[in-house]
Amino acid sequence: MALNNVNILVAVTGGIAAYKCPEVIRRLTEYGASIQVVMTESAREFVKPLVFQAVSGNAVHVDLLDDQAEAGMGHIELARWADVVLIVPATANTLARMACGVADDLLSTICLATRSPVIVAPAMNSVMWEHPATQANLKTLQSRGIILLAPEAGSQACGETGIGRLMEPEKIVESLKQMACDGGQLTMKHVAQSTDSSLLKGVKVLLTAGPTREAIDPVRFISNHSSGKMGFALARAATDAGAEVTLIAGPVKLETPGGVKRIDVSSALQMHEIALSIAGECDIFISVAAVADYRVDEIKAQKIKKTGDDMTLTLIRNPDILADVASMETKPFCVGFAAETENLDAYARGKLQKKNLDMIVGNLVGVQSSGFNSDTNAVDVFWGSSGHVAYSSRSKESLATDLITLIASRYGERH
Ligand SMILES: Cc1cc2nc3c(=O)[nH]c(=O)nc-3n(C[C@H](O)[C@H](O)[C@H](O)COP(=O)(O)O)c2cc1C
Repeated sequence: MALNNVNILVAVTGGIAAYKCPEVIRRLTEYGASIQVVMTESAREFVKPLVFQAVSGNAVHVDLLDDQAEAGMGHIELARWADVVLIVPATANTLARMACGVADDLLSTICLATRSPVIVAPAMNSVMWEHPATQANLKTLQSRGIILLAPEAGSQACGETGIGRLMEPEKIVESLKQMACDGGQLTMKHVAQSTDSSLLKGVKVLLTAGPTREAIDPVRFISNHSSGKMGFALARAATDAGAEVTLIAGPVKLETPGGVKRIDVSSALQMHEIALSIAGECDIFISVAAVADYRVDEIKAQKIKKTGDDMTLTLIRNPDILADVASMETKPFCVGFAAETENLDAYARGKLQKKNLDMIVGNLVGVQSSGFNSDTNAVDVFWGSSGHVAYSSRSKESLATDLITLIASRYGERH
């Protein structure tokens, strides 16, 4: 069995979604995992420890400063016993306490005392999730290697709609199974995050990706370092979310994700023409391509010969594909990408307003592990007058899943 001999310490914290945790434990045990359960004081207000004792087959651990508990399996024993610590659901409070390194109850102390991977599956009201404090705490935790099973979008117990629902129990269990098992020790090489396949069911999504090439003569061109990886990852995530996806790709060497209709182009003018001809029939337009702002005014028919010491090229403005789509009469929900090397917030928010976009993903390029050609990316997403979520550095695939979930949520609110 996939989780045979794997010791999983499941920690339950005080959120409504605590009632879903017994289902997670039941499924984990079906795959052969051994389970010990720790509950915070608040968690015990939501679900009785007896429920967890029944599904795990072990007495539930609740106290840190208890003689009898310490004489049995105390906090250090539990921390050593665990191959992995899985906090499900993880409240905003617990995430904040972990980020600060607090150790004043059993769970927080175990989190500091364990050398094993710690996985958090947060669940909370969407405003709590999007709060800069929660996002900053997550950033801190992820920078320390804590693994996030990101919450999903949808209707919430509090009556709101947005991101914050606990990842479905079967997906949590799938994620654990997918982590490489090596001699009973879980090594967190990767956690596959999958998008809910009904999030964008029947929605038509158009994306642009990669660079454009602006020809100078038959052998030379002006271009940029865009690899197309982010746009292709988003196309894949949108397809996984059930969307009908068309991808207009500049010159890149990437495989077309399954189920995606790809149209290859070279120049900004070609990309503009195709995008404008399709965008009117689409529901969502995601402009990820790094489109050249300028092209040479006249492409020479023959190779330009080396003559003097200087050569002057006259460049003229290319049309702004995103702005043109966003000003269409029946415009799709428009998402832009802003690659900046400084003042990310101000520039990204400026573009959001100037181009009349529904959302903008600000991307700091020129820094390590972010932006062009990198396999990872960290972005800040802005919408409306104050909407903002920061996503810390993660693989472009994982980020694409998060972004599509967020886009689906904002698009869903509009329609
Ligand atoms: C009815 C109710 C539901 C709550 N649901 C959540 C929730 O889903 N997520 C969350 O982060 N906090 C939620 N809270 C707040 C937490 O219970 C509170 O922050 C508590 O201090 C968490 O403690 P713990 O992290 O030690 O378990 C809820 C509170 C109440 C009263």
